[in-house]
Amino acid sequence: MNTSQAPRGRFITFEGTEGTGKTTQAGLLRDYLHSRDLDVRLTREPGGTRVGEQVRAALLEPTDAPLDARAELLLMFSARAQHLAEVVYPALQEGAWVLCDRFTDASYAYQGGGRGIPDSDIKKIESVVHPGFQPDLTFVLTCALETAMQRVNRRGEKDRFESESQDFFERVQAAYLKRAEREPDRFAVVDTEPEIGRVASRIRQTVDSRFSL
Ligand code: TMP
Repeated sequence: MNTSQAPRGRFITFEGTEGTGKTTQAGLLRDYLHSRDLDVRLTREPGGTRVGEQVRAALLEPTDAPLDARAELLLMFSARAQHLAEVVYPALQEGAWVLCDRFTDASYAYQGGGRGIPDSDIKKIESVVHPGFQPDLTFVLTCALETAMQRVNRRGEKDRFESESQDFFERVQAAYLKRAEREPDRFAVVDTEPEIGRVASRIRQTVDSRFSL
C-alpha cells in the first residue's frame, strides 16, 4: 500500500522488555477508548494474522539450534509486512484506533540492541516494509529488570526470548530508552513499578493530552 494515501485512525504501540506489563496496559487502554465510543482494535507483533501467528510460534519456540540473528530479524519483518497489509492499514483507513503490542521499535531493541545488528541494516528493511509510516504514539514501559524477571518467572515455561540472559535484557532496555530520548514527540516512557491502576491512569492521561480527547 502507498502509505502517503494512508490512514487516519491512530496507531499506538506498546513496547518494553518482557514483564513490564505491556499486554495488560494495552488491554486497559482499549477498554478506556471503547468507553469513549471509539472503534479500537487490539493486536500484536509478531502475530496478528494467521501467517504472522505461525511465524510467531516459530520465533518463540525454545530450540537447541540457534536461530541466526538476521533470519530472526527478517522473520519479524515478514510477519510485520503481512500484519500491516491485512490488519493495521485497513483498520486505520476505517478510522479505527489500532493498539499494537510491539512494533518496529522492538526490532531495533531486540535484534539491534540485544543481538547486535546495526541500526543502519534494520533501517534498510524498515524502509522496504513500511516507508514513511510510524506509530502516532509509542509507550515504552519500564521497570527494574528484577521486577520484570520475577513477573516472567511467575508465568511458567519460558519462550526463546524469555530465556535470554539479564545482560541481553539490559541491552534491549537501553536501546528502547535511547530511541525514546531521540524522539520525545513520539515516545512516552512509563514506569510500571507502581500498581496497575496508577500506571493505566498515567497512560490514559498521555493519550488524552496527545490527542485532545
Ligand atoms: P511478546 O510475547 O512480548 O509479545 O513478544 C514476543 C517476543 O518477540 C518478545 O520477546 C520480543 C520479541 N520481538 C523481537 O525480538 N523483535 C520484534 O520486532 C518483535 C515485534 C518482537
